[in-house]
Amino acid sequence: MTRPIRPINIKGYSRLVSPVMDRQTPVYNWHAFKHSYSRELVTKLAREFGLQEGAWVLDPFCGGGTTLLACKEMGINSIGLDILPFSVFLTNTKTRTYDPVALKKYLGRFDGGNKYIAKNVSLPDIEIINKAFSGGVKQKLLYLKHQISRIRDVETRNFYMLGLLGILEKVSNTEKAGGFLRIVKKNVPAKNVVPKFLEKIEKMIDDVEKFNKELEFVNATSNAELADSRKFSSGRKFDAIITSPPYPNRHDYTRIYGLEMIFDFVKNNDELKRIRYDTLRSHVEARKRFESSGYEKPAIIDRIVARVKKAGVNNSKVPEMIEGYFEDMFLSLVQMQKHLKPGGKIALVVSNVRFGGVNIPVDSILGKIGEQAGLVLKDIHIARHRGNSAQQMGKFKRKPSRESIVIWSNP
Ligand SMILES: C[S@@+](CC[C@H](N)C(=O)[O-])C[C@H]1O[C@@H](n2cnc3c(N)ncnc32)[C@H](O)[C@@H]1O
Repeated sequence: MTRPIRPINIKGYSRLVSPVMDRQTPVYNWHAFKHSYSRELVTKLAREFGLQEGAWVLDPFCGGGTTLLACKEMGINSIGLDILPFSVFLTNTKTRTYDPVALKKYLGRFDGGNKYIAKNVSLPDIEIINKAFSGGVKQKLLYLKHQISRIRDVETRNFYMLGLLGILEKVSNTEKAGGFLRIVKKNVPAKNVVPKFLEKIEKMIDDVEKFNKELEFVNATSNAELADSRKFSSGRKFDAIITSPPYPNRHDYTRIYGLEMIFDFVKNNDELKRIRYDTLRSHVEARKRFESSGYEKPAIIDRIVARVKKAGVNNSKVPEMIEGYFEDMFLSLVQMQKHLKPGGKIALVVSNVRFGGVNIPVDSILGKIGEQAGLVLKDIHIARHRGNSAQQMGKFKRKPSRESIVIWSNP
């Protein structure tokens, strides 16, 4: 008889499943992607999986690009997928190799004037943009966007655009707060916008100089593409998958990264909403997009949903979201299994959640669902325990939820 896999505490992972330790790490810290993990987690897992230079790794939810960047440093090839165009852009821009001398040539183009604003540079008329930026700040941002759009070389243009996207939150009246964007009056003077941008770009060029030295002898391909984890096809099979999907905690990435998305990736609110509806059902606005064949809903899900309904939650769509989340994750795990080489490994970082005080053991449920998708569950390492949301804490007292790394192999 095989032993059942139970979540076990593993020392040393706690710091690794958050991006905090990379706040000072060049390139990794170019854009605050709060829902990511650390470079060290990827290197540790790659070592545990025995990955060698030249291996191929997939991240089907690439977010801030941590997996791809860390793989690049190790000489491991990688492909990232994400449904959010901003994440694809961020991952690709972080993983390109730049010539700092060429980058510096453009610094003089941003002298702070705004007389060249072209008619075709504008921002979609979406409420959050008007709340986020004062008229003066918006004008400076448009000036910078216009100057960047005139850079011919695509990679250099993207580099500068990432710098601009990187200051948006700072110069706005918003703040990323858990699962949404909060309005906070900061009243940043318009005259600070261009200096903040130049400071950011200079820091990024400095990072490129440091990073290039470390990558001198390394040769690896990394590329991120716009795709849906539930339905993608790559001609390639991978040695490993290192990833972290959205957690079923109602966080909506199209809102959290709303400023970035509106600034350069969507033309209007309808486009943004379409992406929102298409994301994995980890929040209540996402919609069912794919039928799953072969999925047998684990019985525990019905029991949990009944308890959540009984406990009462402040949004009636939460029970449906919980069911939809696991169905979507089944589809994603089927795709992952299809794209793994025999013997290939998956590491998936995920957190348990609570609704109405009811604990949902996302890690062990996904462990079982992965087996339905044809994978063999190897381990569930508990990395740390996280506090519940302020809202839940008030009502249900402090009941931490575990954040784990679920490991499977492909037979
Ligand atoms: C937890 S984040 C990934 C963080 C990443 N591992 C890192 O270190 O930066 C989850 C990502 O899943 C993406 N996502 C949501 N639904 C998706 C889908 N259906 N297909 C692919 N990506 C999706 C989100 O846009 C988000 O970037």
